[in-house]
Amino acid sequence: MADNNIHEAALIINNGGLVAFPTETVYGLGANALNPFAVAKIFELKERPSFDPLIVHIASFSDLARLTENISENAMRLAKHFWPGPLTLVLPKSDLVPDIVTSGLQTVGIRMPDNPVALALIKASGCPIAAPSANKFGQLSPVSASHVKKQLPGVDYVLDGGKTSVGIESTIVAIDGNQCQLLRPGFITPDDIEKALPGTFVFNGAKPDKLVAPGLLKSHYSPKKPLYILTENYNELPEYSGLILHSKKINGPKAASLFYTSQTGNKIEIAANLFAALHALEEDENVENIFIEPVEESGLGIAIMDRVKKAAYRYTNTVVD
Ligand code: TXA
Ligand code: MG
Repeated sequence: MADNNIHEAALIINNGGLVAFPTETVYGLGANALNPFAVAKIFELKERPSFDPLIVHIASFSDLARLTENISENAMRLAKHFWPGPLTLVLPKSDLVPDIVTSGLQTVGIRMPDNPVALALIKASGCPIAAPSANKFGQLSPVSASHVKKQLPGVDYVLDGGKTSVGIESTIVAIDGNQCQLLRPGFITPDDIEKALPGTFVFNGAKPDKLVAPGLLKSHYSPKKPLYILTENYNELPEYSGLILHSKKINGPKAASLFYTSQTGNKIEIAANLFAALHALEEDENVENIFIEPVEESGLGIAIMDRVKKAAYRYTNTVVD
């Protein structure tokens, strides 16, 4: 069931249940982050491997203090600059955070979402809320309540906050001195971070040691139908193809269904509508294959193409999963 009753949703969280809720990025599947049994239900419903840690959502800086230890000055500056907003900081965890949340890591991913429903839910629950995106593991992230219900009909409650505004998941960073490691590109770009913290260097890639960040998996965010990135080779598409374009100025090949994420190639609009486009064509009965126009990989285009390449990966490469 989907509704807007924050009070009822908070009661479910307090009783160890699961509530899907909107954030500014994508919908989350939330549980009381301090209740390991409730958090275990997230992994079960999502069919998520237990080695994949969750992000903890907070509504105040006092929660940040309880959940972490020895936060560096630079991490605090980033939090103050970008929160509430689509930035997740990976920080040293306090003993209060159960191991199941962090998959045994000594760090915890934390963010304060910029969405009134999410913040109201966290405040009404009186606890931080652990939440991955509210989709089955590896599938498309939800940007509306109906996307959540399609994949997770077993969730106890869905708070409906309409379509999310940012549309792709938060940027994830770990900061060490002046070095800022980008663990997942997102709406906040390396440039934004370097501007907010002059003297900081943002670099890409997985942590050399034991970091398990499945946001870094090659295949993720996949629709159930084959997805291909459009290249010049495709001047004619197979029958029953859906096509996603990002500007009306582009003359794409003929398709059974056409979806524009933007009229003008605006990257903010493309990000906001990317998952909605993939969901729509995944549901479209006239469509067997989906083709998507690539975006230039600069600024927000880096995060957009990260999602597109991961969504297409399993259909263009042999993967064992
Ligand atoms: O925008 C978002 O971040 C959304 C909304 C709901 O907040 N959440 C989200 O969660 O995308 P999820 O679980 O789908 O992706 C979280 C990513 C995973 O790739 C996980 O491995 C990584 O965050 N992560 C979480 N804690 C971490 C940690 N301590 N160290 C490194 N990576 C971590
Ligand atoms: Mg996810």
